[in-house]
Amino acid sequence: MTHILVVDGTGRGHAICDLFVRTDPTVTVYYGPGCDALAAERIVPVPEIRFDDPATALAFLAEHPVEFVLVANIDALSAGYVDVLTAHGHRVIGPSAEAARIEASKERGKLFCASHGLPTARYAAFTDPGAAKAHVQQQPYACVVKTDGLTPDGDGSVVCATTAEAEAAVDAFAAAQGEGFQVVVEERLYGREISVFALLDGADYLLFPTALDFKRTLERDAGKNCDGMGSIAPHPQASPALLEQLRRDLVEPLVAGLKAEGLTYTGFVYIGAMLTDEGLKVIEINTRFGDSEAEAVLPGVHSDFTELCRAVLRQDLASSLLVTDGLVRCSVALTQGCLDDTDPQAAPGWPFGAYDTGQPVLGLAPFPLEQTRLFYANLRAAADGPPVTSGGRVLHVVGTGTTLAEARAQAYRRIGSVSFPGMRFRSDIGAAFEDGSLPSGAEPAAAAQLRS
Ligand code: AMP
Ligand code: GLY
Repeated sequence: MTHILVVDGTGRGHAICDLFVRTDPTVTVYYGPGCDALAAERIVPVPEIRFDDPATALAFLAEHPVEFVLVANIDALSAGYVDVLTAHGHRVIGPSAEAARIEASKERGKLFCASHGLPTARYAAFTDPGAAKAHVQQQPYACVVKTDGLTPDGDGSVVCATTAEAEAAVDAFAAAQGEGFQVVVEERLYGREISVFALLDGADYLLFPTALDFKRTLERDAGKNCDGMGSIAPHPQASPALLEQLRRDLVEPLVAGLKAEGLTYTGFVYIGAMLTDEGLKVIEINTRFGDSEAEAVLPGVHSDFTELCRAVLRQDLASSLLVTDGLVRCSVALTQGCLDDTDPQAAPGWPFGAYDTGQPVLGLAPFPLEQTRLFYANLRAAADGPPVTSGGRVLHVVGTGTTLAEARAQAYRRIGSVSFPGMRFRSDIGAAFEDGSLPSGAEPAAAAQLRS
């Protein structure tokens, strides 16, 4: 029997744990803090583990030895999980806190791109709101204003159409941050986004399938940015030629840059890029897998993931292959909305405002011959009765098919049987692509071929 620990507590974390147990019949995954509502075989939640305190994991590991630890959450990475656990002799997969700053600080991420030849939008960094507004006024292009640090709901970037909007965004960040004001202002880019994933061993890498994330809160990509309302995988434009371009222009320089800076980095990297008229541009580098992309990408992986992790730890990914099933998946986030939409005072719900947690969630029992998957994010076990909601994105429902239309139909049919008070979701995840106007499922079945 193999025991490992995954540090996360999101739908992504559940999808990673599921990947381990599905592809390796010998593994038991401790999942900390995980989700105590999970009743999955061989996935054991460890609620006493806290992202902000690696000592909680050390205490657990002293009693429950594991072969290795995979740290998948940016808060835990930023808190130095990899550094602390490694210093105590554990085998750990994930970037050091220093490397994780590439995600945790927008300015650091932009500097990394600029230093290592990754194409990205023009930008400037500010600690003074007046200077930021003066800059916005001088630019001939529309701007995106980004707060430098991590934000809990993924709403730290304001994409603006006008100078006035950009100034208002600066003012809003200044009001929220006070003395700690720190923003990056960058040129607004236009095009379709693509989420690119690779597993790194410190020397080599393995590309994972791409995805398209739907980050806007409302139908037809209206509303503000949030952590993501759903994803489809593979990305509808992921032709072999594009994948080769992503590898050559983004992943290779990124891996070379990490080496050149001597950063300690193993595990997943997620490059959010945009396909613009001027070519590929990096929007952000994240030092972990995407959420909700993981829910759409990882169920299609069929390689033994424990073995892949062992290869990472041996720095031997060069001899590994990634086997995927080539199917299309559509993942839809079920989130908490307001509970009384007739009440003009009611907050509209995540991620716009307050919502009531503790709402019972019905319809989670597996369906026979199910083509769909449920990944738990903010769900909590209740003393009696069904699990209850505990945060913004409650769970992710994933449909699978040979076409995007089939995957979407599966996902939305399954959503029809899940319910909780205030449940809110986007009904159009992937809809614009399902008529096949762009190739779907164009990624080669065994992405094996995509290794560096
Ligand atoms: P970030 O906070 O950097 O992860 O950005 C969040 C989202 O804001 C991205 O996924 C894009 O949808 C959007 N965004 C960020 N930067 C830009 C940009 N320079 N141009 C257009 N959209 C952007
Ligand atoms: N998919 C958005 C994120 O993981 O940040």
